[in-house]
Amino acid sequence: MAEMKDVIHMVHLDHSRKKNLSSTSLFGEATARNALQYHSSFPEYAPTPLVNLQNLAEYLGVAGFYVKDESYRFGLNAFKVLGGSYCLGKYIAELAGIDPSRLSFEKIVSKEIHAKTGTLTFVTATDGNHGRGIAWTASRLGHKSVVFMPKGSSSERLDNIRSHGSDASITDLNYDDAVRYANTCAKKYGWVMVQDTAWEGYEDIPSWIMQGYTTMALETLRQLGADKPTHIFLQAGVGAMAGAVAGFFSDYYGGSRPVITIVEPDKADCIYQSALAGDGNPRFVTGDMQTIMAGLACGEPCTIGWKILQDHADYFVSMPDHVAARGMRVLGNPTGSDPRVISGESGAATTGFVTEVLTRPALREMRDTLGLGPDSRILCFSTEGATDRENYRRIVWDGLYPSF
Ligand SMILES: Cc1ncc(COP(=O)(O)O)c(C=O)c1O
Repeated sequence: MAEMKDVIHMVHLDHSRKKNLSSTSLFGEATARNALQYHSSFPEYAPTPLVNLQNLAEYLGVAGFYVKDESYRFGLNAFKVLGGSYCLGKYIAELAGIDPSRLSFEKIVSKEIHAKTGTLTFVTATDGNHGRGIAWTASRLGHKSVVFMPKGSSSERLDNIRSHGSDASITDLNYDDAVRYANTCAKKYGWVMVQDTAWEGYEDIPSWIMQGYTTMALETLRQLGADKPTHIFLQAGVGAMAGAVAGFFSDYYGGSRPVITIVEPDKADCIYQSALAGDGNPRFVTGDMQTIMAGLACGEPCTIGWKILQDHADYFVSMPDHVAARGMRVLGNPTGSDPRVISGESGAATTGFVTEVLTRPALREMRDTLGLGPDSRILCFSTEGATDRENYRRIVWDGLYPSF
């Protein structure tokens, strides 16, 4: 018999009788166009590939399986930089008094703007990807960064952040406490706190970060062309990325939007627990949250993300690590002539879940509840490549990963 920790849990939020769903306009197409235009002004910009895994779709008995491969993003191996870069741009524009809708890389690095802002120090807490994005952007825009990582963070991820000139270190705090520590330092030293999650009273910067993520959603929409997805699967840490992307697609498609499912590790399933509680209030998960999905190991939902997800996402999944590990192997070992996607632990979570649901007889009921079948066109976001290569090899080559 499967142990409890091996079970995949799913809860449904029915919106059919809800009045006044929360507004998604903050993450709509107009915002996404601004964010995409800004990102296009960076010399390193190129849209990341949207791969069509036709053979996998056929094998799984669905009409389409699309994966947005964020390992190509700005050479940084994860989507996360989109939030930090847009946020830093908006912050600097406001400080310098330029119209944020006319943001461009060239303008922000100009001597004229730099003279107005001076050299700024941006501080954040991160498991890796967000910090790398902040470090990269701060350095590209001529500013400084300080990055605090939770205990147990990968030394490869730390080195990657330091390689962009950041003052980065691994603390002995869990993720949520590292966020609080970064915030205390920001107040003490006059640094700018750029966190990828929101809480009461700290919502402007995270909302800009979330708006930056819509770049990825708009690119995907354009790449899909006429192929409208029926199901979108989004992984969540604090739920900022999922909130932004769900918000974008919900705003775009309105009443005919795809079914949206949020996927989390069972050790850090704060969004799932919030949905399960069913009273609209976010729930926290505490402790070390030991999961291989390091990017999703967050216990406190982003207030803005949660507001969107509770009204615009349909299903919430809490699942064990081996499901994500399977996703990494599926994407790294393509079926037939499908392209290969190198996907890290957090990146592959959604693909892992979808393939489990579509192949395990024990999960047939979940498949039917989700309405997955021969007409389904599935969209997943592989939000990172192999950002911890040693762990990637251990999982994909040896089928091993820490059971903590
Ligand atoms: C690779 C990856 N995917 C997904 C996420 C989840 O994003 P969020 O914390 O906004 O839910 C993260 C967060 O760091 C991440 O690094």
